[in-house]
Amino acid sequence: MHPVLWRWRFAARRPDRDEVREFIVRRMPRHGVVAEIGVDLGDFSEKILAVNRPRELHLIDPWTVESGEYRQREVALESARKLDSAGRFDLVRDRFSSDIAGGSVILHRANSEVAGAEFPDNFFDWVYIDGNHSYEFVRQDLELYFRKLKPGGFIVCDDYHHAGFWNDGVTRAVDEFMATGRARRIFKRRSQFVMRKR
Ligand SMILES: C[S@@+](CC[C@H](N)C(=O)[O-])C[C@H]1O[C@@H](n2cnc3c(N)ncnc32)[C@H](O)[C@@H]1O
Repeated sequence: MHPVLWRWRFAARRPDRDEVREFIVRRMPRHGVVAEIGVDLGDFSEKILAVNRPRELHLIDPWTVESGEYRQREVALESARKLDSAGRFDLVRDRFSSDIAGGSVILHRANSEVAGAEFPDNFFDWVYIDGNHSYEFVRQDLELYFRKLKPGGFIVCDDYHHAGFWNDGVTRAVDEFMATGRARRIFKRRSQFVMRKR
């Protein structure tokens, strides 16, 4: 674990996931170039904007019915249940319309593999991975976006140690990636895993 900055202060109780995510976002480099892979309705994007104030926030999601494929099989999430894919995309576009107009939010309606190919290497200050949670996809996201990350940049993965219907794909992919020695583990709490590029 990393020094003081990352010491969890609330030892007396178990934090919820949103608290941990905010704790992490507060420790990410501010005013940088950021990507969120897997956006859904943009709830966490809004948190990133408010707390981290990125210069550019790239929101990457195909917003298709199949990308409700993160619901692989019949598992349904609240958000996707209520809105079809066009509705989800429109909602995000409207929600961030002024940031989009100002250039601080850029929407990429594509899967992470396709969108990732558009970015130069060493581009992002930090990336949040929360797209398709199956092992192959997470492994692919880690490989691709690690290249796109500046040295010293951070990748945060959601749903680490959360077995889910994706058969622990996130955990397996992250553990394998960490075993390559290319990144340092910085923090882990409540299904959030933070690594830093060496
Ligand atoms: C759990 S939701 C994201 C939630 C969001 N990060 C938040 O915390 O508010 C997962 C999203 O990943 C998207 N997704 C699925 N496969 C994807 C892929 N290959 N690339 C990018 N996004 C994907 C889905 O469309 C869905 O909106």
